[in-house]
Amino acid sequence: MPDFDNLIIAFDNGLRTLLAPAHSARPHPDADIAGSELGIEEKQLAAALMRVNHSGEICAQALYQGQALTARNPAARAALETAAAEETDHLAWTAQRVAELGGRVSVLNPLWYAGSFALGAAAGLLGDRWNLGFLAETERQVEGHLAGHLERVPPRDEKSRVILEQMKADEARHALTAVEHGAAELPAPVRLAMKLGSRVMTRTSFWI
Ligand SMILES: [Fe+2]
Ligand SMILES: [Fe+2]
Repeated sequence: MPDFDNLIIAFDNGLRTLLAPAHSARPHPDADIAGSELGIEEKQLAAALMRVNHSGEICAQALYQGQALTARNPAARAALETAAAEETDHLAWTAQRVAELGGRVSVLNPLWYAGSFALGAAAGLLGDRWNLGFLAETERQVEGHLAGHLERVPPRDEKSRVILEQMKADEARHALTAVEHGAAELPAPVRLAMKLGSRVMTRTSFWI
């Protein structure tokens, strides 16, 4: 079981994720792109999609926090920490893009954070193989989800597009890393349950 100090650190990380602006260690992928002037509807759609992705990255923070708390193998833990740092970049990129598009982030983020943290911690308690298996499957599903958003985001919104493309490449790499560290293949019903669960988040965050 995680000790009390680690729980306090996890709680602190949660508050920080939800309340403090995230900082990217890498340059924002869209930093060198001026971006086209978008119409009102294009902006609204792009902001809604990027709000969904921002909520997804809130979930990623929580999942990785929950897993790092319970992962046993130091190599697995180090791999989780490296990927988690890239998730912080994603959080910063999506937050900034939502704001630029005149949108706001989801009011339900604390709820998504709490749920994902519990899932991550539960996966961690099952042992590293399942923990990493859960992670690999999550990353694959996020990669697929981002591919869908790349088709829906307004074609003229190059700034959102390059952010989504870089995130998609990162998530694919995170999945590979998890597999390299011994991720188990999850049973099909679990994979389906994960898809249905994330659909609740993506559909809700699109609106609120
Ligand atoms: Fe991410
Ligand atoms: Fe990822």
